[in-house]
Amino acid sequence: MPENLLQGKVGIITGALDENSIAWKTALKAKEQGAKFVLTNAPIAMRMGAINELAEECNTIVIPADATSVEDIEKLYDEAKEFLGGNFDFLLHSIGMSPNIRKGRSYGDLNYDWAMKSYDVSAISFHKMMQVAEKKDIMNEWASIVGLSYIAAQRVFPFYTDMADAKALLESIARGYGYRFGKAKKVRVNTISQSPTKTTAGSGIGGFDSFFTFAESLSPLGNASAESCADYIITMFSDLTRMVTMQNLFHDGGYSFTGISEEMMDKLSDK
Ligand code: NAI
Repeated sequence: MPENLLQGKVGIITGALDENSIAWKTALKAKEQGAKFVLTNAPIAMRMGAINELAEECNTIVIPADATSVEDIEKLYDEAKEFLGGNFDFLLHSIGMSPNIRKGRSYGDLNYDWAMKSYDVSAISFHKMMQVAEKKDIMNEWASIVGLSYIAAQRVFPFYTDMADAKALLESIARGYGYRFGKAKKVRVNTISQSPTKTTAGSGIGGFDSFFTFAESLSPLGNASAESCADYIITMFSDLTRMVTMQNLFHDGGYSFTGISEEMMDKLSDK
């Protein structure tokens, strides 16, 4: 394993809920690679308490912030800057939630108040995090900002309902803000489109298990784990990827470019 890829870098990691979270694995790897960072999550997620154990393991603090609240984000950045002793080199947006999915509403029966909540939590919060960062001038030059997406932004996965639209918006925001932040401060912005992953957010989606197995048999490398996603995020935070920006990067074991696998054909044939 390469060492100290993030030595001297400081940042913020959102979305570590429990040890399965992509953000949780990212925090452990960021620490391993020499980064200093603050953890944050929605105040309601604090109740579970697990994030405090992670903070202890990473010698850091947790600052509660609802990512849909500009006021919370401002407070988060101010307190994080004080703790970290300077501006940020990386931000991870690892946040997603759809009340419609949670409550089993189909795409033809969306509750629009809930849909607005899905878009706000899962996509517009990404814009809010960047807009507040720009206004506070709190990113260092060549800083890296990453959000997490899913291929339902490009192709139809019926069970993903309003989250598909949220992810399309998230990816669009990465392009729009990537251009703006690149020009203003050489800050890069990308989304990573991850395989289905067994986390709280992932498993909450109807039919997740059968879809997980389907993606596993279609992808030549199999599904990408949360841990390997964390590895990819670390490379995106490192100086090795300085010229990559405004991209949606598939991290899915080859799923996105596979039409059908021999394994799937065998399963579907009557022989
Ligand atoms: P997770 O459930 O561990 O993480 C989601 C996080 O969002 C939780 O920590 C939750 O507390 C946080 N969150 C929800 N509302 C919030 C708010 N208002 N303010 C701040 N934080 C809030 O699940 P996972 O899978 O690690 O999710 C991370 C990201 O990866 C999400 O964007 C998700 O959509 C994305 N992703 C997940 C896939 C999967 O199959 N698990 C596949 C592709 C992308």
